[in-house]
Amino acid sequence: MARKPIIAGNWKMYKTHLEAIALVQKLHYLLRPEDHDKVETVVCPPFTALRAVQTFIEGDNSSIELGAQNCHWENEGAYTGEIAPPMLARLKCRYVIAGHSERRQYFGETDEIVNKKAKAIFANGMTPIVCVGESLEQRDAGETESFVEQQVRGSLAGLTADQLKEVVVAYEPIWAIGTGRNAQPSDANQVCGLIRKTAGSMKGDTGALRIQYGGSVKPGNIKDFMAEDNIDGALVGGASLEAEDFALIVRYRE
Ligand code: PGA
Repeated sequence: MARKPIIAGNWKMYKTHLEAIALVQKLHYLLRPEDHDKVETVVCPPFTALRAVQTFIEGDNSSIELGAQNCHWENEGAYTGEIAPPMLARLKCRYVIAGHSERRQYFGETDEIVNKKAKAIFANGMTPIVCVGESLEQRDAGETESFVEQQVRGSLAGLTADQLKEVVVAYEPIWAIGTGRNAQPSDANQVCGLIRKTAGSMKGDTGALRIQYGGSVKPGNIKDFMAEDNIDGALVGGASLEAEDFALIVRYRE
């Protein structure tokens, strides 16, 4: 089953809308049409920069896709400070990250909340990028597989067979995020294989399911991850803030 690789830049809480325009512009001019043919490239700016980045993408007919980093699961309501999925859909976001480990760790997001978000994102015509991954303590205790399996089951519960083909799962070991210490590609591949198997056991064929690796992905290590059979892309934090580095990651084949 041919799965088109998907490489997404998670800009986290970096870049004002002015800096965001400069970054997406630079990235757009660095990437060539053939790069977009081979790899789906997504940028996930902070909420305050979404409109500016969307305007640039549309105005320049760029093939870069837009994503958001989070959302609420209700379509509207008295939730001060939150952003609803229809607001993101109207900004032509194609993807929304759900359950990034920083959301789980610092903002108390559980699998149940992530699951509600994933369903709401689909219900609004967008695709969730659902993040899972173990802590260092869990890895050292040999609990990686059982923990990740539980996260996958909880976060993807109740999705339809079609949604399970469409969803993107990002496997991001917490100890590898922003630490410069990436997982071994073969270890990451093993966990990604387990994720595919788990999703498959929930609802049929997940041959089309795309699974990203995330955690200290850089131009120098992306090729080794992409060579693994269960890794279909990357969720990139730090290295997505430099257009040149991110473009090199998208062009990992060269
Ligand atoms: P990093 O972040 O590439 O800076 O390790 C990855 C992520 O948090 O998605």
